[in-house]
Amino acid sequence: MDFDLDRARHDTPGANNVAHLNNAGAALPPTQVTEAVIAHLRREAEIGGYEAAEDAAGQVESTYAAIARLLNCTTDEVALVENATRAWDMAFYGMSFAPGDRILTGRAEYASNVIAFLQAAARTGARVEVVDDDEHGQISIADLRRRVEIGHGGAGTVKLIAVTHVPSHGGLVNPVEEVGAVAREAGVPFLLDACQSVGQMPIDVERIGCDMLTATGRKFLRGPRGTGFLYVRSSMIERLEPPFLDLHAATWTAPDQFRVRTDARRFETWETNYAGRIGLGVAVDYALSWGLDAIETRVTALADVLRGRLKSVEGVRVHDQGKRRCGLVTFTVAGVGAQEVHKQLRGRSVNTSVSLADYARFDLPQRGVRDLVRASAHYYNDEQEIDQLIDALPAPRS
Ligand SMILES: Cc1ncc(COP(=O)(O)O)c(C=O)c1O
Repeated sequence: MDFDLDRARHDTPGANNVAHLNNAGAALPPTQVTEAVIAHLRREAEIGGYEAAEDAAGQVESTYAAIARLLNCTTDEVALVENATRAWDMAFYGMSFAPGDRILTGRAEYASNVIAFLQAAARTGARVEVVDDDEHGQISIADLRRRVEIGHGGAGTVKLIAVTHVPSHGGLVNPVEEVGAVAREAGVPFLLDACQSVGQMPIDVERIGCDMLTATGRKFLRGPRGTGFLYVRSSMIERLEPPFLDLHAATWTAPDQFRVRTDARRFETWETNYAGRIGLGVAVDYALSWGLDAIETRVTALADVLRGRLKSVEGVRVHDQGKRRCGLVTFTVAGVGAQEVHKQLRGRSVNTSVSLADYARFDLPQRGVRDLVRASAHYYNDEQEIDQLIDALPAPRS
């Protein structure tokens, strides 16, 4: 593989301590990110938080610019928030639903998003519909199209298509450009949860055709925890009413009046973690310096090696679906619970995670699958770490 692994590992001091295959949880940050965060925290302690923020205003602005380059959008279309969940909430709860309105989603949808759909449905009488999977286990474009056409223009109109690009619990990459084409054709807003895909593959909001996109800093982007962002297409911004406002998101124009900002910063709050925002910008620039195509090629190849090795172990089953796959690899060991496998691996310095079936109720139970062990590779991982995981697996039990 033509990839400068030495440079990647040199920039990642944590790689000396653990086989970190939990990048879908929180990746190891590169030194550049850690240093930028610490430098700002130090500056806050030395000269004061407001003063440090004033001095770092240019750096914070460059975070918006970096995200705009990453997604192929403008800086006015980016809001910086605490995490992907809050980014998604600001978009979703900014919409209004009436009785009978339909929300279309997929089997791979993230649990928090589904809980929000159900809350909105209970409050407003909107209906949530789960689009079928196709024969590859990805969202069925034919079923999506069929559902969008039912009731089009009248009662039962689809008000929102909300889809997760890469699920929390598998290696699937949903065909979101095809979802975007259906949404555009029908004129239905498209909200994309790209929390697990941003940072591990190229994301271009024009090519995808989404109107809103949400992501987090700490996963494949390798940014600080407690950072995230929301993209909203300029034509959509003023159609979303932020569920809460403050004096940054809006201006108090007269004793009984206020005016909401017209850019995506209407979804932000005034107080924020400046060190985190700066670190996020550094992380995005760092990812761009590798190139997202190169990152995807490397991550996909490593994950394929891992899947191949796991499949050759007796009693181990790999559960990833989809025509196109990414860095997340999910598996079970016969007779051993996912938590126990995860714990044993952790004891041997191999970091993984567990995907609970209860967090994927539209998907895993339908496939007859319980909790899964999730290993997730990034470009700084190597094949030795994959060997380490395979060697540390507990034996299957009958
Ligand atoms: C697909 C998906 N969406 C959203 C989230 C929520 O991200 P955050 O924890 O940054 O709010 C996650 C977190 O694991 C996720 O996997």
